[in-house]
Amino acid sequence: MSARRPLVIGNWKMNLDFVEGLHLVQQLGVLMKNRPVEHVDVVVAAPFVDLRSVSSIVESERFAIALGAQHVNAHENGPHTGEISTSMLKRLNVEWVIVGHSERRMHYAMSEEIVRETLAAVVRAGQHAVLCVGEELSIRENATYHEHVTAQLTSALHGLEERFHDLVTVAYEPLWAIGTGVNATSDQVREMTTFLRAELHERSFTSAKVIYGGSVNSDNAASLIAESDIDGFLVGGASLKAESFYAILRACDDCYAVKR
Ligand code: PGA
Repeated sequence: MSARRPLVIGNWKMNLDFVEGLHLVQQLGVLMKNRPVEHVDVVVAAPFVDLRSVSSIVESERFAIALGAQHVNAHENGPHTGEISTSMLKRLNVEWVIVGHSERRMHYAMSEEIVRETLAAVVRAGQHAVLCVGEELSIRENATYHEHVTAQLTSALHGLEERFHDLVTVAYEPLWAIGTGVNATSDQVREMTTFLRAELHERSFTSAKVIYGGSVNSDNAASLIAESDIDGFLVGGASLKAESFYAILRACDDCYAVKR
């Protein structure tokens, strides 16, 4: 594992209404109060309609959980029916925004250009952007995945002012591992972490964290974090239950405490 403080983000996707979301955060908060995860930054990326109530409970109970959104529109306001702006999210204390998740790229026509504009809007609003990159299976199999993620990185970060570099985190999320139950191996994750860090350094993103997402769960988190030099995880399915998400947080916390 790297010497950086781990970051673990739960991406609820289109799951849990606000009542269910409240319940989950309450349970998670209690687990974290009983045995704190001292060395991990914890974020939940809830659906838009859950954010208000999740934000209230996190604040009133003083849970050490930051709020994230799964997407945002790059425009400040105006005729964008169905969309949400960064300033709306800021009002709800949202500090993190996932940008360019593969599901948005694939199913909601999120082009490289929109990814770049969205990332710029997020960091200019003072929020942390979690840029998702990753290849599909055919690209992994024909061994052009380095070129693929480099192109995604180059496009998304193009022209971003240096003063915003600290607000960028990169999530390596190979599509073949997302929601499939087949996670990338520690070796595969380590290889991509090293590669992405070098690419980020070259672009003067020297403090950017690199996290991994794709079928991370309570069984594989400990070995992935210990063996792959990754800075944390973006967790989908396993973030929907307090116990499994907490187990992932524990794995990162224990590993960091030992390795530091
Ligand atoms: P998964 O999703 O953990 O369910 O594979 C990860 C993600 O899409 O961010």
